[in-house]
Formats: sequence, C-alpha cells, structure tokens
Amino acid sequence: MPCPHALQHRPELRLWQAEHPALSAALLQRPELGVRPPGKPLPAHLEGSRLGRLFGLWLRQRDDASRSTPKQALVRALKALPAAELRAQARRQAALALTGGWNHWVWATPSASIAAVLGLPLDSLSDQRWLHEQLRAIAGALQDGQAGAADPACAALLQSLATPAAAAAPLQACLHRLGPAQHWPGGVEEFEANRLALLWQSHEAGAALLGNALARLATEPALRRPGRMLDWLPTLLREGGGVRNTRRFALESLEIGGVRLRPGDALLLNLAGKTTEADDVGFGAGAHRCPGQDLALETAAAALELLLAYQDGRRWPTPTQGVTLANAYIPAFIDPQEHATP
Ligand code: HEM
Repeated sequence: MPCPHALQHRPELRLWQAEHPALSAALLQRPELGVRPPGKPLPAHLEGSRLGRLFGLWLRQRDDASRSTPKQALVRALKALPAAELRAQARRQAALALTGGWNHWVWATPSASIAAVLGLPLDSLSDQRWLHEQLRAIAGALQDGQAGAADPACAALLQSLATPAAAAAPLQACLHRLGPAQHWPGGVEEFEANRLALLWQSHEAGAALLGNALARLATEPALRRPGRMLDWLPTLLREGGGVRNTRRFALESLEIGGVRLRPGDALLLNLAGKTTEADDVGFGAGAHRCPGQDLALETAAAALELLLAYQDGRRWPTPTQGVTLANAYIPAFIDPQEHATP
C-alpha cells in the first residue's frame, strides 16, 4: 500500500497528490510551490475581462513577496472586526434567508453576513437573492470560460462596496483603518479588488461549511447541542465538511520525498482528514492561510445556533445530492416546508 505521507502520482489527473493533510501542511509552507503555474498569472479564458483584471490582483492568486505587507494588514483588519457585530449580522441574515428555504439559507447566509458587515444594504430576501446572483455569475465565469459574462456582476459589486455608507460599515471601517489603499502595491484598484475578494472567498467555502453542518445536524440529532456549534465546526472541517483540497504548482525544479518535480508540475493537496491540531489545514497554511477563518466560523456558528434556538416546529430538511466543486461538496436539501429552492 502506498505511504499516505508521500506524494502519490495521479497520471489520470496529470498531477501529484498529497493525501495526508500533514503532508499538505508541510508543502503549503514551501516557497517553491505557487498558487499559479509559472508564467501564467491568469487562466487563459480570463484574459481581457474585468474579472481577469480583478483575479490578477487577488492575494489568493499571487505569490510575489510584495504582497506579504498587505496580507498582514488584511489579517489585522479582519481580526479587529468585533465578533459581536458579526454574530448579530449573521443571525439577522440567517433569519432572513430562512424565509427563502433551506437551499437559499445555506448559500446566502455566509456571503450575505460578510456583505452586510462590508456595508451592502441587505434588508430583504430579494436583496440576498441579488447578491447570490452576482456571486453565481462570478463562479460561473471562473469555471466555464465565459469570463465577460461576469463583468456586470463585478462592476455592480465593486460599486456597491464603494459607497460612502458602505465605508462606515464595521468591516470596511477596519479595512480603511488597518489595511487602507496605501498598504497595497497597486493602490486603490488593488484595495478594491481585494475588498471584493473577501465577499467572493466567503461564498462557496462558506456554503460548503454551512451546508455540510446542516446535513449533519439534520441527520444526527445527537449533534444538536446548543452553545457547542463553534467548538464542533473544526471537527466537521477535518471530516471533509469544508474546503477539501487546494492546488499548487512547482515554480522551479525541486524534490519532495524522492519525487522530482519540474516547473509547472501540479499538486493536489488534501486539506481534510485525521490530523493533530498543529497540522489542521481546514483553512490552509503558510502564506495563503485563510485570513477569514474566525469570521467564517463565527458566521456559521451564529447561523446554526439560531436554528437550534428556534422553537417554531420547523422540521429539519432532508439532504440530497448537492453540488460537487473542484475543492468542496455542498449538499442540497429537500425542504419539508416546501419553500422554493434557489
Ligand atoms: C468569512 C468568510 C471568508 C473570508 C473573508 C475568507 C477569505 C479568504 C482569503 C482572502 C483567502 C486568500 C488568502 C491568501 O491567499 O493570502 C482565503 C484562503 C482560504 N480560505 Fe478563506 N475565507 C472565508 C471563508 C472560508 C471558509 C468557510 C473556509 C473553509 C470552509 C475557507 C478556507 C480557506 C482556505 C483553505 C484557504 C487557503 C487556500 C489555499 O491556500 O490555496 N475560507 N480565504
């Protein structure tokens, strides 16, 4: 049997795979491995589009050393957001989203909560649906090659985040104070692109976490323990209920445990599975470690606690075949209340 601590060759996927998250944890610290193939800062289909321009400015897609200063500023700004404000907004958005049915709840609650603390006015189900549509347009364009199709969504979101009212919202206030445009090599444009990235990053990963949590609570009543959601979520992530993997590319020739990699070779790094706490990689590790970890956990926990506190006789939904993304599985739900699904 192959050793799970060594890279496995997956010729059918044309990549090398780190199965054990402890190996992924170590590889995520290696500067010779980057988030983009060498010489290809953009996927070809994004070239020339507004989405491509933003993508090229996102911290998530860059490895140049000049981005470590804005990354540190971003981490400080996100840490400064008062958890109580985020929890209150998450409860508000979760309660609103529930009126749109369980599938809407899973998809809309995480990004709507972050959008609201970034200053987007989200006071109705249709506001949430509008936001979800914009993020879906971006997701579709990133996946299927129609990059220009997401340009109106990018423009609309950038504009909504740039209003004076939004600047005063709790998370934007932290960004302006601790990670303002002067900290970013590309100035205002790069600041604005990464402000939008916060919304984008909360979308699919947030839906994966909340959707998998709901599926487990719906099917395992013993897990429904009020006050314990925040403690339970890291276990769920380890069990594959969040982002399950990420990719890296060799930037130069290197050797990993006897495997010789050439520039451009691709790696698939598993992020879920049995680990010691020190090796937990549910939120990544190294230079690209998720700066939104606390926000993601607080939002999901607040939304789940709200469900546990509701005493309105609402029945739990039945999980059914959901959406499989490259890095996550997001369950769908059959709604016993017969609400419309998005
Ligand atoms: C509040 C919502 C969230 C925000 C604002 C956020 C933000 C971000 C950002 C900006 C990055 C890129 C960091 C960089 O490249 O320097 C990132 C990476 C990451 N995030 Fe999050 N995130 C959120 C939710 C989540 C959730 C719910 C999960 C897991 C279920 C998650 C898992 C990850 C992982 C694994 C990475 C690292 C990816 C890699 O190294 O390839 N994030 N996040």
